[in-house]
Amino acid sequence: MKVLIVYDSVFGNTEQIAQAMGNSLGSKENVETLRVNDVKIEKITGLDLLIVGSPTRAFRPTKAITNFLKRIPTNSLNGVKVAAFDTRFSLSSIKSSAIRFIVKTGGYAAKSIANRLKKKGGDLIMPPEGFLVTGEEGPLKKGELERAADWAKLVIKE
Ligand SMILES: Cc1cc2nc3c(=O)[nH]c(=O)nc-3n(C[C@H](O)[C@H](O)[C@H](O)COP(=O)(O)O)c2cc1C
Repeated sequence: MKVLIVYDSVFGNTEQIAQAMGNSLGSKENVETLRVNDVKIEKITGLDLLIVGSPTRAFRPTKAITNFLKRIPTNSLNGVKVAAFDTRFSLSSIKSSAIRFIVKTGGYAAKSIANRLKKKGGDLIMPPEGFLVTGEEGPLKKGELERAADWAKLVIKE
């Protein structure tokens, strides 16, 4: 199975999640884990599975991820399985209930990534998933790397 994991990361947390996913799929699969700025659009041809992840920044993916998704030609993901993830604030780490409310209702990057992947023809095989950080620059909440590894294994089984 040919798998590409594309991610962006400002402080390194989403990168750690993406690498944990790539490592968990191991050598059994043909997996590449690449930062979005290193991905040539030709990379998406011949894939069985494309996983895209971004930090949530103001309820959305980063500009680099959005631009990458826009650059994918229409229908070029027909027959390709797709999945989306993000990193985001752990709500329990936000002290102010007003800010908690805004973060919760504003939405997260993974959903918009998933929608764009579907628009390009991708077959969304898992609901968009979020992995939690306990502060703006991290660290990841305990156990999230293991959860990411498990999530990737579930995705590949679909
Ligand atoms: C400018 C900025 C905006 C952010 N907006 C959100 C947000 O809307 N929702 C959320 O849950 N987290 C938000 N965060 C927290 C980020 O999701 C967190 O910094 C990110 O997960 C860290 O991933 P990275 O280390 O890969 O950059 C924001 C962080 C920054 C710096």
